[in-house]
Amino acid sequence: MDQQFDMDDFTKVIVSENDISRKLDDIALQIRADYDGEDLLLVGVLKGAVMVMADLARRMPPTVQMDWMAVSSYGSGTKSSGVVRILKDLDADLSGRHVLIVEDIIDTGITLHWLLGNLRSRGAASVEVASLLRKPDAVQVDVPVKYLGFDIPNEFVVGYGLDYAENYRTLPFVAILKPSVYED
Ligand code: PRP
Repeated sequence: MDQQFDMDDFTKVIVSENDISRKLDDIALQIRADYDGEDLLLVGVLKGAVMVMADLARRMPPTVQMDWMAVSSYGSGTKSSGVVRILKDLDADLSGRHVLIVEDIIDTGITLHWLLGNLRSRGAASVEVASLLRKPDAVQVDVPVKYLGFDIPNEFVVGYGLDYAENYRTLPFVAILKPSVYED
């Protein structure tokens, strides 16, 4: 069944469903080669990473494991506050594990910078990052991203996990939201 949405809400689709699918194929091949023979724990950052996690994990061998963290660095608006706090911690013990953080987007980099420090302090064998999107013009803290999908312009984007006030996460593509949707 096709999803229903109003394309008038968006200025432009910047990453199509096809673009995402092909890029995840490429990234999955790299990850599978890099972790060949190793146990791998994917750590998804709720809620935005749900879509990329689900699609990436299904491109991995069935022994790949998933765990989830919820952290908050945003309010419900469009700007980062710079404050990171844990809303839900991992269930897994990371000691000796190979961990790959899966993110939908790196905006300022504040969330990932903090997460990398936090997870590395838990005794993991390795901690790397995969992110579907990055906004190079918004980055305030550089974070090492081993697997990157797309660099995108510093616009307010929604879809494929990314929300505006909890809406639009389920879109199959990433699009620039029309300012009229979020401006008074
Ligand atoms: C988004 C996104 C990243 C973070 C990136 O999450 O999923 O986790 O912001 O921003 P940063 O690079 O400026 O730190 P958000 O806090 O909006 O929560 P959500 O995933 O539940 O939408």
